[in-house]
Amino acid sequence: MEYIEAENLRQQLADGVENLWIPSPKLKYYETGSELLEIILSDEKYYLARKEQELIDLHYRSIMDFGDYSCKHTIIDLGSGSGKKTLPFLKEALERFQGVYYVPIDTAQSAIDLCHKNVETEFPGLPVISYTDSWEICMKSDFYNRFRDTNITVFLLGSTIGNFSESESLAFISKFMDIFSSIENSRLVVIFDSAPSEHKSVEVIEDAYNSEAMEKIDWHMIKMINKYLEIDIPLDKLKRCSEFDHSQKALVRWMELTEDCTISYTPKNQKLKLLRKGTRIQTEISRKYSQEDIVMMQKNALTKIWMTPDYYYMCAAFQP
Ligand SMILES: C[S@@+](CC[C@H](N)C(=O)[O-])C[C@H]1O[C@@H](n2cnc3c(N)ncnc32)[C@H](O)[C@@H]1O
Repeated sequence: MEYIEAENLRQQLADGVENLWIPSPKLKYYETGSELLEIILSDEKYYLARKEQELIDLHYRSIMDFGDYSCKHTIIDLGSGSGKKTLPFLKEALERFQGVYYVPIDTAQSAIDLCHKNVETEFPGLPVISYTDSWEICMKSDFYNRFRDTNITVFLLGSTIGNFSESESLAFISKFMDIFSSIENSRLVVIFDSAPSEHKSVEVIEDAYNSEAMEKIDWHMIKMINKYLEIDIPLDKLKRCSEFDHSQKALVRWMELTEDCTISYTPKNQKLKLLRKGTRIQTEISRKYSQEDIVMMQKNALTKIWMTPDYYYMCAAFQP
């Protein structure tokens, strides 16, 4: 977590904020976070992993039906994790194109290591150019210099976009559209979790986030907040909460103070302002999208959408 961000968050606490929003989804993956998330993926109620896999299995060929097959294809995987979900796209690209470069980018070294292992097992010899870094590195046009003579697909899988604020997600997609406007056959492919509708109840969404494993992730998030902000929010004075917030079209999870307490900035043993009972420390926000929301995100882009038959999950390709 960057110094400025930690400083700003501590300042909010010092000012007696009532709802602390941690804008960096990175934090939950720190230390054992990635392993905790792997456990969630096998939870029956957690439809997100199953539905995303179903979407990919159904549509990976059609999603890779893009570009100029007489060229190479570069697949950039933002927040690649283990890279497992990207394997079908790599397979299809290898069949169609004159070679493939796979570029996983993830802040977690453990994820990058696993990714190398999985890709090497499945496609021995495939060039993997990995970055243990923030995906911001590929938000500058010179990042693409070495890939200029290839077709480019940038993937953001795992409905990770749901963790962004509304303005962040718009800025994120716009950034890629700006860069790609000068690179032929380049696009951004994003996977979205669908908003509640006649096909998908709010309860299904709420249930998916109410499990023992998810609770462990939230406690882990609070520990990471304490560690990286160098503060001491008392874990025994927190209550875990999770609900679907209709105004934000998002599943929100937070920890709520069960009594007033004063927290400290530990390196200086400096007391921050008294936080009142009921103060919320948000552990995650997961926005859900309708098809219309996706189309409206980039009115000037060419947007193509794929869905699961039950409308639970969607994939969109944005091309300038
Ligand atoms: C929801 S997981 C998705 C993993 C994988 N793509 C999948 O769909 O299974 C998000 C991944 O993004 C990584 N991550 C989060 N913020 C990041 C950032 N700013 N830059 C790069 N990776 C990030 C995390 O370490 C984590 O592996």
